[in-house]
Amino acid sequence: MSRRIWAGGSAVALLALVALAPALWSGAGAQSSATPPREGAPSREILNGRQLYSTHCQVCHGDGGRGDGPSAGGFATKPSNLADGRLMNALPDAFLVNIILHGGPAEGLTPGMPPFAAYLGEAQARDVVAYVRTLAEPKFRAESARQLVTVPGAPRQPIFFSHLIHAGSFQIDCQYCHADARRSEYAGLPSVERCVGCHKIIGVQDNPEIGKIHDYARRGQPIPWVRVFKVPEFTYFPHKAHVRANLPCQGCHGPIEQMRVVGAQTGPRLLHDLVRLVGLKPPAPALTMGWCVECHREQNRAHGRQAPLDCVTCHH
Ligand code: HEC
Ligand code: HEC
Ligand code: HEC
Ligand code: HEC
Ligand code: HEC
Ligand code: HEC
Repeated sequence: MSRRIWAGGSAVALLALVALAPALWSGAGAQSSATPPREGAPSREILNGRQLYSTHCQVCHGDGGRGDGPSAGGFATKPSNLADGRLMNALPDAFLVNIILHGGPAEGLTPGMPPFAAYLGEAQARDVVAYVRTLAEPKFRAESARQLVTVPGAPRQPIFFSHLIHAGSFQIDCQYCHADARRSEYAGLPSVERCVGCHKIIGVQDNPEIGKIHDYARRGQPIPWVRVFKVPEFTYFPHKAHVRANLPCQGCHGPIEQMRVVGAQTGPRLLHDLVRLVGLKPPAPALTMGWCVECHREQNRAHGRQAPLDCVTCHH
């Protein structure tokens, strides 16, 4: 579709050139007319993106996007390899556009990646992303890019820790960091030492967010993460039983690997109660008693499990 638009546009441009300035033909036409648009020829967006990329990005990220441009040597955290499809393909467009317009710190990355909002509009940033996608190996397919999931009211954490980067892009296993989930009541959060284990090298010198990890480690303090999912004290929720029953984390917590900041809309909701009053039966909002019981009923009925429905197992 977009390829046809480009082909049409270039044909009009060529006609104009032929009509107005035959003398320009050999020079101006050299790039676009010598080869007629082929199957799979780049769209107008990609061509525009390529131009912008070579003006603004190539100096650090290199011709092929591998992070090996002439200025790359000056950075402690090297310019990212934008051609590494294993890391890049799952990242949402909105995330990449945000970094391009507002710089690395907008997503917790280093200020070595500068903001371009003074030079590029949003549409242009999208064109650059469209071009960068063409550099990826393995190849980028539109269906492999995830959507960015933003939960309203997500808390501000003491360190900008991104699940999108750790669990989405780098695909670090949930249970590598939440290691208690399969063996205890709590899922647990990684210790400062666990962060330092990877971040002794990654980002230490020039990422202020990672500097904070080392400050906590030096002071011997745990990182004071703000809690998101919480049931009242009088309720018993054991992770172990649920993880061992092979329920995916995301079924209860949402698509965490698509969130730059983890948040949740949980608990009783007036709208929900009103809809129920009218006689409809929407699924109960997460972390309410109705939610627990609905799933237990369903699991017992459809999967022959023995999830408790009696009061004392959940309240003691
Ligand atoms: C002055 C050097 C410099 C320029 C110019 C530059 N970048 Fe970067 N870029 C970096 C560095 C350094 C990083 C790594 C940041 C980190 O990992 O903390 C980076 C990271 C990125 C990332 C994050 C990818 C990831 O790892 O998730 C994207 C996307 C990106 N750059 C795109 C661009 C685009 C597009 C342009 C041109 C509009 C551009 N950059 C221009 C230095 C630069
Ligand atoms: C298994 C290795 C590993 C562990 C463990 C780890 N990280 Fe990372 N972290 C990474 C990688 C890889 C990146 C991406 C670096 C880049 O692209 O510049 C990263 C990036 C970051 C960044 C910059 C981007 C962002 O997410 O905002 C921050 C901040 C960060 N990590 C904080 C933490 C904290 C806090 C912990 C502990 C709770 C932690 N990391 C544990 C590997 C790890
Ligand atoms: C590199 C370590 C790391 C990985 C990998 C990781 N997490 Fe986390 N997770 C954290 C840290 C640190 C926090 C606390 C900060 C926050 O809420 O973002 C956290 C918070 C959470 C929370 C919210 C906890 C609360 O306060 O209620 C959930 C839910 C969660 N992670 C689920 C997951 C899932 C699901 C995955 C895999 C898709 C995953 N995590 C992968 C480190 C990690
Ligand atoms: C059946 C639903 C369910 C599943 C499956 C589930 N969780 Fe949870 N998770 C919860 C509930 C409910 C809470 C709040 C528990 C509380 O307040 O005691 C919670 C809390 C958390 C917390 C914060 C507090 C803590 O327990 O340390 C983290 C982190 C977390 N979950 C991660 C995970 C990860 C990672 C997985 C997958 C390995 C997972 N959860 C699977 C329902 C679930
Ligand atoms: C997505 C479905 C689902 C949700 C949501 C869910 N559970 Fe469960 N629950 C299960 C399954 C499956 C089992 C395991 C049954 C089995 O072992 O056969 C279970 C088991 C339990 C057990 C028994 C543990 C044991 O050691 O035998 C308790 C207690 C429990 N759940 C509490 C809760 C509470 C409290 C909530 C809500 C905060 C909740 N569950 C939400 C599916 C769910
Ligand atoms: C599968 C787990 C589960 C079972 C079974 C269960 N509850 Fe609950 N209950 C919860 C959770 C989670 C909450 C807290 C969330 C909420 O208030 O919706 C809760 C909240 C409550 C509250 C406080 C409500 C409020 O508005 O503050 C009462 C009272 C209660 N339960 C009574 C019972 C009684 C009585 C039974 C048995 C008939 C029972 N529960 C069975 C999980 C359970």
